[in-house]
This record gives sequence, structure tokens and C-alpha cells, in this order.
Amino acid sequence: MQADYLIIGSGIAGLTYALRVAYHNKDHCVVVVTKGNKDESNTKYAQGGIATVHDRNIDSFEQHIEDTLIAGDGLCNEQVVRMVVEEGPARLQELIDWGVQFDENNTGEFDLGKEGGHSQNRILHHKDITGYEIERALLLMVEKAPNIQVLEQHYAIDFITEHHTKTQKKNKKSEITCFGAYVLDAKKNRVKTITSKITLMASGGSGQAYTTTTNPLIATGDGIGMAYRAKAEIEDVEFIQFHPTALYQMPQESPAFLISEAVRGFGARLRTAKGEFFMRKYDTREELASRDIVARAIDTEMKISGDDYVFLDCTHLDYKKFKKHFPNILKKCKTLGIDIRKKWIPVVTAAHYICGGVKVNMDGKTTIENLYACGECSSTGLHGANRLASNSLLEALVYSQRSYLNSIGVIDSLSFNEEVPQWDATNTSQNKENILVTHGRASVQKIMSDYVGIVRSKRRLLSAEKRLRLIYEETEELYKESIVSAELCELRNLITTAYLICEFSLKRTENKGGFYNKDFA
Ligand code: FAD
Ligand code: SIN
Repeated sequence: MQADYLIIGSGIAGLTYALRVAYHNKDHCVVVVTKGNKDESNTKYAQGGIATVHDRNIDSFEQHIEDTLIAGDGLCNEQVVRMVVEEGPARLQELIDWGVQFDENNTGEFDLGKEGGHSQNRILHHKDITGYEIERALLLMVEKAPNIQVLEQHYAIDFITEHHTKTQKKNKKSEITCFGAYVLDAKKNRVKTITSKITLMASGGSGQAYTTTTNPLIATGDGIGMAYRAKAEIEDVEFIQFHPTALYQMPQESPAFLISEAVRGFGARLRTAKGEFFMRKYDTREELASRDIVARAIDTEMKISGDDYVFLDCTHLDYKKFKKHFPNILKKCKTLGIDIRKKWIPVVTAAHYICGGVKVNMDGKTTIENLYACGECSSTGLHGANRLASNSLLEALVYSQRSYLNSIGVIDSLSFNEEVPQWDATNTSQNKENILVTHGRASVQKIMSDYVGIVRSKRRLLSAEKRLRLIYEETEELYKESIVSAELCELRNLITTAYLICEFSLKRTENKGGFYNKDFA
């Protein structure tokens, strides 16, 4: 199969890039592969919304830039921050033009929410299901574009590079070139060889490396795993963002249901089981301190009290307004018998976002030629050591545009590599020990949650690495002898991502943003 553009992932990053390149040249063939149903993605679960400077009478680019830099704790790339913030409003307008609806207030202005680390109300949202609305509108647009083909239940296994073609690099710009990807058609159990001129990795996050996460099952770090195997540069993956307020339930659901930070922006307060408002001990911004600070405070309070959760108190809030802004959260609480007018909501921290990933430049290009990365799998330098709330949907929009602009400038000079071999499945047989895969996944999650969580130490990190190495060796052995399956590939990518998080954590020598090693405290 040949595609001018091969896009891996159908979240906000993949779909907006697909639309842009497809509109630019209707003769170009754009293929989007996605491993589950087309709407399943981190994007679909986004609640709070998109941060952009909307009304420059009450807000300014400078304030949004400063908030982002403060949250990033000195490690953001300031040039990138400025570019993303300044390009934000134009990208948001495109999203609106594509049919995404954002809530308005009584006067017909956008209803701007607030979240931790933001000095202004600047979050555009669609109730508390912003991501669901984005996926709805974008998929509708994609359906109408005749030159975009979306292949569901298609799992990208590996990028095709010189490693597969055995050809020497003709062009010296970079050591490695991407010629497409091997993709498993999970319904037909067949590996397709898709060659492309340009490939965009938009595979999202890796929250499934942890037991408690807000990320859906698809978030297994595939982009990082694939890129690492192809020898692309990876950076900043030690900065895992833990969301302070996932709903605590027993047994815990996977993914954990999120209680949006916008609820704290709306006035909700955190309490211990004894009723103490504890955030004032940790930051003058209290509940609206940046996410790393609030998550660490909750973790500390849980360790002091020995409780499994803290509470979010909404009892004092305007119920009618709450219902209008957060109908989905309200519905979820009701199903669990929590009347938010009378009862506090039990909440716990959960792995939520990976700030680093596949390194890209300001045009979205990775260190591999003709391979771009966009969205949560990429590392642009915007987030530094901690992402400011609601900056990731914005980042995906800005970088899909920049990747698109760069791609259309080079696509006509590129051709398909005709020497790409078909997938080689010789000496493999059906894996009859699937327990090794399910157990491996659960083990990785447990190791990461116990040893590589909000608070780390050198000893725990070394221990985690040792354990992960063992699972890695067993899994590689299984992979080499098995007919390929998505579950086994996901496990490989989870292990790789987890291992890189440990390795990068061990290299970091000071505490910054979301990274905290108690040896440096
Ligand atoms: P995703 O939306 O995750 O899409 C990735 C796609 O890649 C999926 O379609 C997946 O199936 C596919 N894929 C993955 N691996 C493969 C493979 N090997 N082969 C084929 N397909 C593959 N951010 C904000 O800015 N504001 C918010 O309010 C907000 N709320 C959030 C709430 C929740 C509960 C969560 C989990 C995240 C939230 N975030 C929020 C973060 C934000 O939603 C994500 O960072 C963003 O949506 C990522 O978009 P993406 O396109 O990069 O990846
Ligand atoms: C939330 O709604 O709390 C999530 C926002 C984000 O992750 O940016």
C-alpha cells in the first residue's frame, strides 16, 4: 500500500494534520491508521478545554507565556512557548471553522474557564466534554474529505527505515530516513507494508505505564517505543504529570474518571478526611497552584494520614451553574451515590500526561528524515518540567499546522522507496502463552506505580530498571518467536517507555516541576 502521507493516530494531532494536508492537494492520498475505533484517543476524554488568549482586554500573550514558563519550572523553550501562545488564537479559529462548538455565556461571549497555574480565565470548553466534541467535529470533516482514508483496528508496529531496506543512505542530511510503517490489520491478522513519502506520528500518551491513570487503554507509549527502536532522539520523558484529582473508586476503573481541574477553577476545595483545607500549607495559590504542586501535596497528605484518598468539596458551589458547566462529572458522581451538594468527592492522583517524548524541532520534524511527530507523543519544549493545564490540545493544533507547512514544502521532491521488503514472519508461530503478555503489562504498571511515581529515589529507580530489564528480555524472546499481535507490541512499547522514564530519571540531578527525587530534597 502506498500513501503520500501516512498518519499514525486519530486524535486531535493526527486528524487536524490529515485535514490540512488533504485540503492542500486533493490528489494526494492521505492514510490515517488507528489501532482502535477511530474516536478512541486521549483527545476524546479531554474535559477542561483549550487554553488560548481570547479577549486581549482582560488577558495577554505575555501572561499566558509567563504562566506556561512558571509551570515549566525553568525548562521550557521560551521561543517555542511564545510561538505556541501567539499562534494559538488562529489555530483555535480553525477548529471553530471545522465545527467544534465552545460554550458561551449569557452575553454571547465564550465562557472562559480557569485551571491551575493560569493567572486568567482563558480556557475555552464544551461543557466538561471538550475532547469528545473535538473528535466528533473533526471526524465529521474527515469523513467528507475524499482523499483521506481512515483504517481502524490498524496497529502500527514499526517504522520502515534503512534498517529494513538495507540500502545505504543517499542523502546525508540525517542518518536515518522513514519510508513508512509496518501495520497490523488486526481484523484480518495480516501485516500491511505501507510505504509513504511523509509519516506523521500522532500516537498520543503513555499513561498505561501506570496502574492508576486517566489515559484510556490505547495510551501505551507506542510512538516513543517505535521512534526509539528506529533511533530517533527522545527527551524529557522523566517529566510525568500526575493529575491531582481522579475520582477514587473501589475497585478503581481503568481509565480513572477525571474530575477536571476546572472544577477547582470553579471554586472547589481540597480537604483531608478530617476536613482540613490543606493546600494553603503548600502554595499561596492554594487549589489553583500548578498541577505538580497540588499532586505532590495530595501525595504527602495521603502519606501523613495513611488514607487512600483526599476529598474535593463542592458543597458550597452554585449547583445550577455547576450542572451547566460539568454535567458529565455530575452524572458520574450521581451514579456512585455522591450528591455533590452534600457529600465531598473522594479523589486521588493519577498518571495523566507525558511532558517529553519524541524530540521535534519547531517544524515538527523528528531527528529521522521524513518523520514528523505531533501531539502528546512529541517533545516540543513547550512544557518543560511540567505542562500548564489545557496547553496540550493547543500544542497539538499549533504543531499540526507547522508540520503541515513544512511537509507541503518538501512532499513534491520525495518519492516512494521501492525497495521496502514485505513483513517477515518466518519462524514465528501463534503465541499460546498470552498470560506472559497480560502479566507483563500488569507488572510494568505495578513497578512504575510503586517505584517511579510522584516521589522517586535512586534506589527505587535502580530497582525498577532491574525488574523492567527482566520483563524486557522475556518479552523480546516471546516477540521473536510469535506471530505478531497488538497486545504483544503494546507491551514492548510500554516496557521501552517505562525503561526510558527510569533511565532519564536517573540522569536528572535536581528536582524540577513534575520530577521529584527525594534524594535531592
Ligand atoms: P491522542 O488523542 O491520544 O490520539 C492518539 C491516537 O493514536 C489514538 O487514535 C490511538 O488509537 C492511536 N494510536 C496509538 N498508538 C497507535 C499505534 N501503534 N498504531 C495505530 N494507532 C495508534 N489536554 C488539554 O489541553 N485540555 C484538557 O482539558 C485535557 N483534558 C484531559 C483529560 C483526560 C482524561 C486526558 C486523558 C487527557 C487530557 N488532556 C487535556 C490531554 C490531551 O487530551 C492529550 O494530550 C491530547 O488529546 C493528545 O492528543 P494526540 O492527538 O496527541 O493523541
Ligand atoms: C482537566 O480538565 O483537568 C485536564 C486538563 C488538562 O489535562 O490539560
